[in-house]
Amino acid sequence: MTESEPVERLQKVLARAGYGSRRHCETLIFDERVTIDGKLATIGDRVAPSEVRIEVDGILAPVAPGLVHYLLNKPPGVVTTAADPEGRPTILSLVPDEPRVFPVGRLDLMTEGLIILTNDGDLAQDLMHPSKGVEKEYLAQVHGDPTPASVRSLREGVALEDGMTAPAKVSRVSEGLLRITIHEGRNRQVRRMCDAVGHPVVRLVRTRIGGVGDATLKPGEYRELTVKEVTRLASALIQERPPVMVATPK
Ligand code: URA
Repeated sequence: MTESEPVERLQKVLARAGYGSRRHCETLIFDERVTIDGKLATIGDRVAPSEVRIEVDGILAPVAPGLVHYLLNKPPGVVTTAADPEGRPTILSLVPDEPRVFPVGRLDLMTEGLIILTNDGDLAQDLMHPSKGVEKEYLAQVHGDPTPASVRSLREGVALEDGMTAPAKVSRVSEGLLRITIHEGRNRQVRRMCDAVGHPVVRLVRTRIGGVGDATLKPGEYRELTVKEVTRLASALIQERPPVMVATPK
């Protein structure tokens, strides 16, 4: 929160965040799809974006000034940490220095593919929280050609040293190539799952995070997430949140 943050028309704030033209944003407000701190917004409302909670269709709108969300295709051999004592390239060297962003979760040194970097602390924390269980999809090239029984084991859960894995979506794409979707975020999880069924990973690529994928980003390239993608990620969190337990009378 900044003392000097200007108060602006709601449709202007929404338009700047990527919700479409000001006219379109007025329609969103008119159609009762926008709330400010839980109350229905009306045409003419003015807000200081970082001091209120603005939701569109019940999903927090990423409207605070200066928030950035990047989608990077991490090449192999690049570390996910901010600095590396061994001097290896870091993912931060692949995105602009300002504003300062940080990776959401991590990929192993040799794992390739999509990773989000942001300065949006709330979203990052939610995406990384195991209870929010956002799906991550990987393509794993493995040694050998997994049998249907191995694929079934991976799907149902395999025993790792830190416990059984949760059920996963696993399919054999072609010889030695598996598509694996997990919603846990354990260390080296996909590699350890494949080891556990006797098919060590040769190459591992993350292809999707929640509803966000991009087959056109080349290794080392990044782009900003669209507001649709940010809200899709936020809505995945809400849908995947465990149901609230209600105590029933005895
Ligand atoms: N699973 C792995 O084994 N490595 C990663 O980098 C991500 C998921």
